[in-house]
Amino acid sequence: MSLTGSALLAGVIGWPVGQSLSPALHGHWLRQYGIDGAYVPLAIAPADFSRSIDGLVRAGFKGFNVTVPHKESAFALAVRHDAAATAIGAVNLLVTTADGLEGRNTDAYGLAATLTQHLGAEALRGKTAAIWGAGGTTRAAIHALDGLGVAEIRLFNRTPAKAVALASSFAGKTAAKLSGAGYDAWSGRDVALIVHTTSAGMKQTPSLDLGLDDLPAGAAVFDAVYNPLETGLLAKARTRGLKTVDGLWMLLHQAVPSFEAFFGVRPEVTAALRAELVKALQGG
Ligand code: ATR
Repeated sequence: MSLTGSALLAGVIGWPVGQSLSPALHGHWLRQYGIDGAYVPLAIAPADFSRSIDGLVRAGFKGFNVTVPHKESAFALAVRHDAAATAIGAVNLLVTTADGLEGRNTDAYGLAATLTQHLGAEALRGKTAAIWGAGGTTRAAIHALDGLGVAEIRLFNRTPAKAVALASSFAGKTAAKLSGAGYDAWSGRDVALIVHTTSAGMKQTPSLDLGLDDLPAGAAVFDAVYNPLETGLLAKARTRGLKTVDGLWMLLHQAVPSFEAFFGVRPEVTAALRAELVKALQGG
């Protein structure tokens, strides 16, 4: 539908932003729900971040999704943070409020909703999960898994010290027991779920080559990478008979709270939405 003068406005801020799938995603929901609103890509250089946001808020924008390299500036700009943004230490959603921008993080929600959809809400309660990686996405994954009642989270990373430091930075903040180690300590025994959070496997790069043979039969593997949809890791897990979940699901689910904050409707993750995004990913 065409926009009126009172259309609701939102967008995604990045530098660059051309690769973002968020306009396609939110555009699908705007059409589905017949909302008088627009969601636009906003290419904003780091030096222009705060004054651009100031101008856009003055122009009536309801909020923004924030991606690389602005996540830290967004955290600093927010007058308040929700519990997830505070726990994760990063903001991917800025919502305009009466007294300034509220910083939120929807990545942990996106992963929790994905795992709930594919494995069931109680499937991980009391279980042990492994996370491969120790970066920004890992922080969101720890928060999500802790929220799902996982009893123990083991971090494995190429640089072991980063995994150890990340685990200790959450000390006292999670109900789950946390530990960090290098890949040489990797073992799949007792692991109900692997969450892969590094960039290995993206585009044409090889996936991490860690063994999956000692995982229990009912275990699952989630890969945060969504391009390609089936990474080397997921292909190997599928061959091994394990349950696999790709990163596109997390991308779809993490957008739900953002859309609701901007446009006032809680949207659904549907097969039609996923099909449209798969097409966009494949360049069509
Ligand atoms: P993000 O915010 O996307 O999580 P990040 O904070 O830069 O990104 O973290 C990148 C993660 O991917 C790190 O765990 C990094 O491992 P190191 O800590 O050892 O650098 C990991 N990583 C990136 N490329 C990798 C590769 N080719 N093999 C193994 N790990 C890789």
